[in-house]
Amino acid sequence: MERIVFMSLIISLFLFLHAVEMVSFAFVHPLCSSHDSLALLHFKHSLSVTQTVHYRESSVPKMASWNSSMDCCRWKGVTCDIFTGHVIGLDLSNSILGGTIHPNSSLFQLHHLQTLDLSSNYFSGSHIPPSIGQLVNLAHLNLSYCYFRGRIPLEISYLSRLVSLDLSDERSLLQLNQFVFRMLFQNLTKLELLSLTPINISSSIPINVSSSLRYLDLAATNLHGDLPKSIFLLPNLETLRLSYNAHLTVSMPKFNWSSSHSLRELELSSTNIAGGLPSSLGTLKALKVVGFYYCNLAGPFPESIRNLSQITRLDLSYNHLEGEIPDAFSNAQKLTSLSLESNSFNGRFPSSLVNLTKLEMLSLRHNLFSGPLPVTANGLQNLVSLDVSSNSLNGSIPSWMASLPSLIYLLLKRNHFSGPLSLIQNNLKYLDLSSNNLSGEVEEEMFSSMQNLYLLDLSSNNLTGEVEAEMFSSMQNLYFLDLSRSGLSWSSNKDSTNTTIPHLRFLWLRFCHVKDFPDFLSNSKELWILDLSENEIHGQFPKWFGGLVALQSLNLSHNYLTSLDHLPWQTPVFVDLQTNSPSEPLPSSLCKLSYLTFLDLSYNNLSAEIPNCLVTSARLEILDLRANNFHGLLPNKFPKNSGLIHFSLSKNQLEGPIPTSLVNCTYLQVLDLGNNKIRDTFPTWLETLQELEILILESNRFYGPIVAFKTKSPFPSLSIFDLSGNSFTGSLPIEVLKGFKAMMNMNADK
Ligand SMILES: *[C@@H]1O[C@H](CO)[C@@H](O)[C@H](O)[C@H]1NC(C)=O
Ligand SMILES: *[C@@H]1O[C@H](CO)[C@@H](O)[C@H](O)[C@H]1NC(C)=O
Ligand SMILES: *[C@@H]1O[C@H](CO)[C@@H](O)[C@H](O)[C@H]1NC(C)=O
Ligand SMILES: *[C@@H]1O[C@H](CO)[C@@H](O)[C@H](O)[C@H]1NC(C)=O
Ligand SMILES: *[C@@H]1O[C@H](CO)[C@@H](O)[C@H](O)[C@H]1NC(C)=O
Ligand SMILES: *[C@@H]1O[C@H](CO)[C@@H](O)[C@H](O)[C@H]1NC(C)=O
Ligand SMILES: *[C@@H]1O[C@H](CO)[C@@H](O)[C@H](O)[C@H]1NC(C)=O
Ligand SMILES: *[C@@H]1O[C@H](CO)[C@@H](O)[C@H](O)[C@H]1NC(C)=O
Ligand SMILES: *[C@@H]1O[C@H](CO)[C@@H](O)[C@H](O)[C@H]1NC(C)=O
Ligand SMILES: *[C@@H]1O[C@H](CO)[C@@H](O)[C@H](O)[C@H]1NC(C)=O
Ligand SMILES: *[C@@H]1O[C@H](CO)[C@@H](O)[C@H](O)[C@H]1NC(C)=O
Ligand SMILES: *[C@@H]1O[C@H](CO)[C@@H](O)[C@H](O)[C@H]1NC(C)=O
Repeated sequence: MERIVFMSLIISLFLFLHAVEMVSFAFVHPLCSSHDSLALLHFKHSLSVTQTVHYRESSVPKMASWNSSMDCCRWKGVTCDIFTGHVIGLDLSNSILGGTIHPNSSLFQLHHLQTLDLSSNYFSGSHIPPSIGQLVNLAHLNLSYCYFRGRIPLEISYLSRLVSLDLSDERSLLQLNQFVFRMLFQNLTKLELLSLTPINISSSIPINVSSSLRYLDLAATNLHGDLPKSIFLLPNLETLRLSYNAHLTVSMPKFNWSSSHSLRELELSSTNIAGGLPSSLGTLKALKVVGFYYCNLAGPFPESIRNLSQITRLDLSYNHLEGEIPDAFSNAQKLTSLSLESNSFNGRFPSSLVNLTKLEMLSLRHNLFSGPLPVTANGLQNLVSLDVSSNSLNGSIPSWMASLPSLIYLLLKRNHFSGPLSLIQNNLKYLDLSSNNLSGEVEEEMFSSMQNLYLLDLSSNNLTGEVEAEMFSSMQNLYFLDLSRSGLSWSSNKDSTNTTIPHLRFLWLRFCHVKDFPDFLSNSKELWILDLSENEIHGQFPKWFGGLVALQSLNLSHNYLTSLDHLPWQTPVFVDLQTNSPSEPLPSSLCKLSYLTFLDLSYNNLSAEIPNCLVTSARLEILDLRANNFHGLLPNKFPKNSGLIHFSLSKNQLEGPIPTSLVNCTYLQVLDLGNNKIRDTFPTWLETLQELEILILESNRFYGPIVAFKTKSPFPSLSIFDLSGNSFTGSLPIEVLKGFKAMMNMNADK
């Protein structure tokens, strides 16, 4: 007995030592087949380390260390068969490689390769060579993010041992023809992973696919037809991504997916899900991710989703789902992201949501939810983003919102929330409470505590009290502030020249009882959009105003400005100055405008001739000069490339004929010349303006008969036409009326 034990000990020791020797032999002695070594070196020299690729931090030029004085099995990225010395694995992913791979590249002499990973390099211009078909032992091929272009060769379907094939690429320049696609499925019977997103395949999906498939990503590949049911019955399928195939129709199995209990991720967004969601979905116990965004789903909240206890992400947004969803999420304790946006769900806010401690993102936007929000919320400790905007929710803003430690986005706009606003939340970056019915004074502490805000929108509420620039000065990241019609008054009592909100780009203070230009804006070099309309600003633009070098849009309509000079004329695209009280004539600086597309100077009592520069600009699209004292002739300078769409001149003192160059304004939709002193015959020659919808000539000095039109379809878009209060003679020829096609097609409600 002892002897036997001893003997077996000896034998074990012998075997052990032998094994050690084998292993050290493998590491000490060069094993690399010289054929493979040479092939690799040739391959190295055929490529280049590129500078053009935007490589990541993790990029390593693995090939740099390859040289003939070292055994190739020890080169970076190379794996050898331990016994034969043949190269069986080559991982050159993310190696800053560039150049082209020729069909005769020595790479294709590595016949023993089982794994080839060239992903994340820059073979710009290379095709995938047909010689790839020679690597018949390949089990894993990764050519993703390689910037390959052109057709994927049929020869890739010779690789019948492939277990994984990844050809995905964010902006793929590859094409896969239908035949090769079918051959891939037919011949690669061991395939477990296939990713072809977003290659344009333009095919239907073949019925026969490898039963080993675990992971299938065909998102955005232009697939059409019906998804074969067999896909859902694949016994090992874990991930199915077919999103963004607008012409693909998916019908889920009505009964058992008995075999697909492994399914974890189901992404079908932007496909057509026919026949709705079957209740059988609830049997997929492992399901974690469901993406059914924009799938034409209708009917009530899919019952079956209640049973998905592993669900982490659920997106049902942009469908036609409706009805209440009570208690639907009580099992979904792992949910991190839920989007039900843009459906027609109604009833109360789903109260089972407030207990979900993992939830990070919740969007119920644009539904018909009503009633108050829950009074308490025990979970939601990880909520980062809450969007319930555009519903009919009411009641006050619950206090728990102020105590959610992770909340960054809070969007409650377009509801009926009322009561006072006392939300002190230090982490918030985006707070939109606009278009509600909030009332009372805003605690000053609220503003001073929210130092991280990027966006604050309180517009269209019923708040009271005064605010001033200083209150926002702690918000050094603020780029969007809208207090329009919030009820708050903007105080200019204190000098705010030393206050800065350095990154402010959008400031909307419509109807905020502003009495003076807010001085702190002189420091707002990034300001893009300024709306101070419907306020009580008197006098003229301050000197610093010309320094707003980034300003794109300015609305100062409905104020009491007495001068329109000192504007930053170079940059703005949109300028609305209607209804002010200028006592000076039109400033000549107006002609310095070079980017303007919208100019409204109406209701200003401006007395001047219309400067040429206003009509010669090709960029101007909307020009409203109504209700002033413009006199003299209209400049006859409308250029061939005029972009003018809307031209209103009514209630002025303009004389003379209509300038003939107006016919150059081929985009013109509205021409309003009413209530002037224009003396001319009927402008039949405007009949060629294809877009003209409104033509108003009323109360002028037009005269003479209205002659017949010259073209077959005169004024093809005209729907409003006013000639009253002129001295036209004769009768309106019947052909004239017959010609107005658009007027006859008007809807009853217009
Ligand atoms: C070969 O590479 C090794 C490792 O990078 C290096 O130590 C050696 O100097 C190189 N030899 C030659 C001849 O370049
Ligand atoms: C591969 O073909 C190119 C031209 O098509 C030629 O320049 C190159 O020498 C060939 N390389 C090998 C390894 O045969
Ligand atoms: C292929 O390579 C890319 C980039 O290196 C990687 O993200 C991806 O997971 C790889 N695919 C497979 C199937 O391993
Ligand atoms: C399928 O694979 C076999 C090898 O297993 C190969 O002989 C045949 O040519 C392949 N057929 C196609 C169409 O790729
Ligand atoms: C995809 O390919 C089909 C057929 O080859 C072609 O008609 C279609 O325009 C392509 N789509 C895109 C987005 O390239
Ligand atoms: C699918 O595979 C089965 C069995 O291998 C075969 O009989 C059938 O013809 C194939 N169908 C198609 C459409 O290729
Ligand atoms: C569902 O699958 C189970 C087990 O695979 C089977 O017993 C049952 O009959 C199936 N039910 C239906 C409706 O197909
Ligand atoms: C959900 O699970 C419950 C309990 O396990 C079961 O009774 C019910 O039929 C399931 N519903 C669906 C739609 O699968
Ligand atoms: C939330 O959890 C609390 C305590 O666990 C429980 O009392 C309450 O009923 C739950 N609320 C909902 C709506 O599920
Ligand atoms: C606004 O609040 C005042 C009280 O401050 C109230 O009288 C008024 O009705 C409210 N307006 C609206 C539209 O709710
Ligand atoms: C603004 O700062 C300047 C320079 O620091 C100082 O002289 C001036 O008094 C300050 N103005 C106000 C209103 O605080
Ligand atoms: C249209 O514009 C061109 C050049 O801008 C000008 O030469 C021409 O006279 C204009 N057409 C009419 C009818 O005035």
